[in-house]
Amino acid sequence: MAKKMKASDELRIGVLGAGGRGWLASLAHKPGEGSRVVALCDIRKEAFKGWEHIRKREDNAPKMYCCEDYRRVLDRDDVDAVFITTPDYCHEEMALAAIEAGKSVYLEKPMAITIEGCDKILRAAKEKKARIFVGHNMRHMAFVTTMKRLIDEGAIGNLQTVWCRHFINYGGDAYFKDWHSEQKNTTGLLLQKGAHDIDVIHWLSGGFTKRVIGMGKLSVYNRCKNRRSPDELGCARFDDKNWPPLSQTGISPVIDVEDSSTIMMQLDNGVTANYMQCQYAPDACRNYTFIGDEGRIENITETKIAISRSRHGWGEQDEIIRVINGYDLHGGADPLIVDSFVKYAKGLAGAGVNSPLAARYSVATGVMGTRSIREDNMPFEIPPVDPDILKYFSK
Ligand SMILES: NC(=O)c1ccc[n+]([C@@H]2O[C@H](COP(=O)([O-])OP(=O)(O)OC[C@H]3O[C@@H](n4cnc5c(N)ncnc54)[C@H](O)[C@@H]3O)[C@@H](O)[C@H]2O)c1
Repeated sequence: MAKKMKASDELRIGVLGAGGRGWLASLAHKPGEGSRVVALCDIRKEAFKGWEHIRKREDNAPKMYCCEDYRRVLDRDDVDAVFITTPDYCHEEMALAAIEAGKSVYLEKPMAITIEGCDKILRAAKEKKARIFVGHNMRHMAFVTTMKRLIDEGAIGNLQTVWCRHFINYGGDAYFKDWHSEQKNTTGLLLQKGAHDIDVIHWLSGGFTKRVIGMGKLSVYNRCKNRRSPDELGCARFDDKNWPPLSQTGISPVIDVEDSSTIMMQLDNGVTANYMQCQYAPDACRNYTFIGDEGRIENITETKIAISRSRHGWGEQDEIIRVINGYDLHGGADPLIVDSFVKYAKGLAGAGVNSPLAARYSVATGVMGTRSIREDNMPFEIPPVDPDILKYFSK
């Protein structure tokens, strides 16, 4: 069982996957203020370079231990917690090993790429009484938390149905040049990217999906002519100049995931929901609308929420609510989720809005929705989590 620390004690952190998303852990590097990154692991040595400015800053501080094998970090007694920020296909193995080693775990979303993987992690965390926290940072975005509060306060009456349109203009840069483009690494992009949105839909609706139907296809990036060779490393750098999608260069040699997908979800509390993802849209935005029996709420942008309660024509909202939401650091959510994890890992606070159980249900919905897309749009039931796990994580 993870120990309880004092606020003044320093939480010593190891980072598994120091490059890419691994920079997130640098937000927890606060020497003298209660948390410090002490160890980095990455299979690419170049990833450590991104930490050099931090390491140089602290001439007198103990050096950060760097290695290429994540097990060396887990072996260390001077590591209390780990951030697992490696690609999705590593999550299950690394989370299980970290729990076994007695570390508190910040695990990036999606929790795993299979339902079985998630359930193994939940079971191991229950048995070890480990602190497990999944990187659903959208639960800290101001527009999401504001919409949740308004729905909970009854702004639209009783919630009935939800739609989310997800436009992605960097899809060709981020998801079709490296490991993301293959089913074996992600299951599919409905899960890899949509895990966030399915979780937001579940959280704001107060239920989990019990049945899902999907439809989708791969119809754009598979037509890109300029492919990288299989032995070349994919480069997922964003660049607005990479437009239109068919002009993309360095596209993965193997693409077997969908570039557009839609699912319909029946939640266990009667709410119905739709999620639509397009990886080749010219703009980037998540547009959610929640419709109740007394009104409709919608985020027009990430800083502007509209509420309609009276009967009127298109575009004439009753109320516009502006929310302060930075565009950097995922709308200001990253520092908040890291802060919440550090307090939780030290035993100073509960997990707050973080829910490993909900993370499992977002994966389960993504997995079964993807299966429906690939199996003639058949409806699939979401396998429920074991009752003992449900009871433990519902506490
Ligand atoms: N919550 C969010 O907003 C958010 C944003 C971006 C990425 N992510 C998640 O973060 C994870 C990483 O995504 P990314 O885009 O940074 O991927 P990435 O391909 O850049 O990988 C991250 C790092 O992990 C390293 N790595 C790969 N395999 C490793 C291994 N076996 N051992 C040690 N290091 C290894 C890579 O070399 C890289 O430096 C994904 O699961 C993704 O879903 C979440």
